Amino acid sequence: MNSARIREIEIAYDDVGSGPALVLLHGYPFNRSMWRDQIDFLSTHGNRVVAPDMRGLGETKATREISTMDDMARDVAALMDKLEIDRAVVCGLSMGGYVAFEFVHLFPSRVRALILAGTRAPADNEQEKQVREQQAQRILTEGMNFVADATLRKLLAPRTLAEKPEVIASVREMILRSDPQGAAAAQRGMAARRDHSDNLRRINVPTLVIVGREDPIRPVADSEFMHSKIRDSRLEVIEDAAHMTNMEQPEIFNRGLHEFLT
Ligand code: MLT
Repeated sequence: MNSARIREIEIAYDDVGSGPALVLLHGYPFNRSMWRDQIDFLSTHGNRVVAPDMRGLGETKATREISTMDDMARDVAALMDKLEIDRAVVCGLSMGGYVAFEFVHLFPSRVRALILAGTRAPADNEQEKQVREQQAQRILTEGMNFVADATLRKLLAPRTLAEKPEVIASVREMILRSDPQGAAAAQRGMAARRDHSDNLRRINVPTLVIVGREDPIRPVADSEFMHSKIRDSRLEVIEDAAHMTNMEQPEIFNRGLHEFLT
């Protein structure tokens, strides 16, 4: 494992391959291991792939009760500074997408292109914020078990659930190994995130929007909205996938990224 002292945290990350940099930002409550197939494939196809564990998740500890998207985006910028990467293609899935929105908003000149997977631009409404706070409190008292039980069926498509036990096991393990403090802090950070809907038309880098046809968490309509507002964007809908498109259909996801990057 690589780690770097940036801002007030020790951030864990992978940095593999050489070539133009691609930064992969994982979702919640996961960690950089969700990108294993992408790291292997893209780092052997001409890219330098950097995948951090966002603060509070994976091997990066949380230091506060809330991990904002602003904090996470600034962590990514600080890590890029440390690694002497000026500009990169930034790819985020779900919460990673919220961080990518924040990153391109704060540091537009550092983004060569964007990949937004299973995410959405609007902020949470009041009810969604309340649900996140309830989740955060429950995680702090009960731990992560109930999260795995409650979410696996939404994260993965029926075909994945029926045919890919190794993917189910990896997703379950990532959830169960998440630190409750860090997961609660990320939930609170997502609840506080800003609405990027009106910023979409200002994004002026090539953008690939990816969504699983059967994603109930961030449905296809969310991605169609982003695609309609981001000028230079294309939309890829992946069949037989729900929220974890990159793990459920890695070959299709990797091919899409590779074509986009080249
Ligand atoms: C994720 O996969 O990162 C989460 O579903 C994001 C969210 O809870 O909005």
